[in-house]
Amino acid sequence: MKIAITGATGQLGNLVIDALLARGANAADLVAIGRSEQKLEPLAGKGLETRVADYNAQPTLVSALEGIDKLLLISASEVGQRVAQHENVINAAKHVDVSLIAYTSIANALSGGMKLAEEHIATERLLAGSGIDYVLLRNGWYIENYTDQLMGYLNSGTVLGAAGDGKISAAARADYADAAAAVLLSEEDQNGRIYELGSDKPFTLAQLAGA
Ligand SMILES: NC(=O)c1ccc[n+]([C@@H]2O[C@H](COP(=O)([O-])OP(=O)(O)OC[C@H]3O[C@@H](n4cnc5c(N)ncnc54)[C@H](OP(=O)(O)O)[C@@H]3O)[C@@H](O)[C@H]2O)c1
Repeated sequence: MKIAITGATGQLGNLVIDALLARGANAADLVAIGRSEQKLEPLAGKGLETRVADYNAQPTLVSALEGIDKLLLISASEVGQRVAQHENVINAAKHVDVSLIAYTSIANALSGGMKLAEEHIATERLLAGSGIDYVLLRNGWYIENYTDQLMGYLNSGTVLGAAGDGKISAAARADYADAAAAVLLSEEDQNGRIYELGSDKPFTLAQLAGA
């Protein structure tokens, strides 16, 4: 069973690989896909097979997905380009008969009304029409979106945000990564499942500022 991870050189991708290894996956069964050979080197050092591919170049994706059973498609990072990029990955996966795609979508994709959700909804639809089995990991906000700004909050005395009194179910990237690893290693049929992932202790921006 070969499991590939796109965006493996990113923050979430690295944590997913650590979680897969911590859950007992064999490094030799994991394939780390990234666009930078240099950034992939530390993952090769962990015993993973590494393959270079760019979301913008479908032929590179076809080669990178050869022989893969399960694929974690970590959503791309260039807002506005992502639907075409994800479509390239899905088409490549179809070409080489990947059996399951797990996709990192956004929390409450269909009902949340967030502008950022549009590309995720479009990708979910592409997956549904692809004929490939798929599972949706609808990740909530990363808590690091806030904790990375702590010094700025403290220096300015201000937490700026547009959520009003809305509650935010943020969780650490490492927790989303562990969820992805659990799904990828599950022996249960994951096709069609949707996981809404986030914290069980939602907070408002005012509560964040108070803390
Ligand atoms: N839930 C949230 O709060 C939240 C916040 C921000 C983003 N996100 C989404 O979650 C994803 C993962 O988050 P993250 O923190 O791990 O992001 P990240 O650290 O920026 O990692 C993004 C990964 O995508 C790769 N990538 C970007 N463009 C690519 C391309 N054209 N071809 C191949 N690979 C490409 C990057 O490669 P390089 O290492 O070479 O750059 C990197 O491996 C993001 O991409 C975004 O869709 C979620």
